[in-house]
Amino acid sequence: MHIYKVGGAVRDRLLGRPVSDIDWLVVGATVEEMHAKGYRPVGADFPVFLHPTTGEEYALARTERKSGRGYGGFTFHASPDVTLEEDLIRRDLTINAMAEDEAGVLYDPYHGKNDLDQRLLRHVSPAFAEDPLRVLRVARFAARYAPLGFRVAGETLELMRQISASGELQALTAERSWKEIERALMEAQPQVFFQVLQACGALPELLPELEDDTQALVALEQAALHEQPLHVRWACLLHGLAPASIKAVNQRLKAPRECQELALLTGECLAQGNQALALPAMALLELLQKFDVYRRPQRFEDFLVACQMTAFGEGKAGYPQADYLRGAAAAARAVDVKPLVQAGLTGQALGEALKAERLEALEVYQRS
Ligand code: CTP
Repeated sequence: MHIYKVGGAVRDRLLGRPVSDIDWLVVGATVEEMHAKGYRPVGADFPVFLHPTTGEEYALARTERKSGRGYGGFTFHASPDVTLEEDLIRRDLTINAMAEDEAGVLYDPYHGKNDLDQRLLRHVSPAFAEDPLRVLRVARFAARYAPLGFRVAGETLELMRQISASGELQALTAERSWKEIERALMEAQPQVFFQVLQACGALPELLPELEDDTQALVALEQAALHEQPLHVRWACLLHGLAPASIKAVNQRLKAPRECQELALLTGECLAQGNQALALPAMALLELLQKFDVYRRPQRFEDFLVACQMTAFGEGKAGYPQADYLRGAAAAARAVDVKPLVQAGLTGQALGEALKAERLEALEVYQRS
């Protein structure tokens, strides 16, 4: 049995990037031998094991053939006679199809090292097309390695075009697509992910709402430059869409609740945020209420940052509305409910009195 380090760990070591998790490939072993050595199987019908002490993943060398549409439609053939080259050829990109043995010797039958040096994302073989998720993976790697000067090879982009045109992307589950989108959003240049999807015709398949949206990517770029968290990046990406479209995208991709919520609120309230300095006190109050700023102050703060990123994306140097709205929120939040309760107010009457006091506080704030 021969054991090799494969995939991202080899790639990132050669790029001088930190290696987070290591995938191992086992050539020349049977399932029984793996059991006998104490490896624990990950699933019943998948030839992947966990190391008895390190917990790292060890996969038996395998070949794969697509037997139907979608992710479930795969037949695996794992046996001791599957060679290293046969296992590597089914992988997505040449830079992901390198292996390293225990002595640190590099095995690179598909010239991944050369493509790393040329800064090229190139598919290994026509087997690339067997998993349409790879269209998103390539776009994600393009976003991650854009600062290093990587680009998608022409022939790979062409293949991605064919996959997009075939309608196969529709077979991806929301969970798998979102996982890629989420990781892409957190990369250094997430806008490149969407640019690559646009270039290969995948954007109309996955996110048709964004097709003619020129502001989405510049806002996202700003959010990444300012190292904003996932939900702020998501809100920036969708900020220009109508609320109904934001809802549709959120639901179709099953985005996490925090992302869904902030994107929708941002889409609904961005215009008011931008006009904050001219809003009457009542409109300010309604904006604060809508965000439930009294119980969810961080969500309002995230909204202000998202607005600011979209303004930066439009070339504005600053966003004075943010500090103004922070001040307004502080003024409204400073209203003390206790005296009203002590005065015997409850229910609707208490709500109305509180609202009136907050309105007054906002008017004072506006005059100050
Ligand atoms: N792989 C593939 N096609 C996929 C998913 C994975 O060919 N759809 C192969 C690639 O060889 C990849 C390896 O399996 O390098 C491990 O996959 P994964 O852990 O998802 O990605 P990494 O390449 O390790 O990249 P990342 O740094 O993004 O985790």
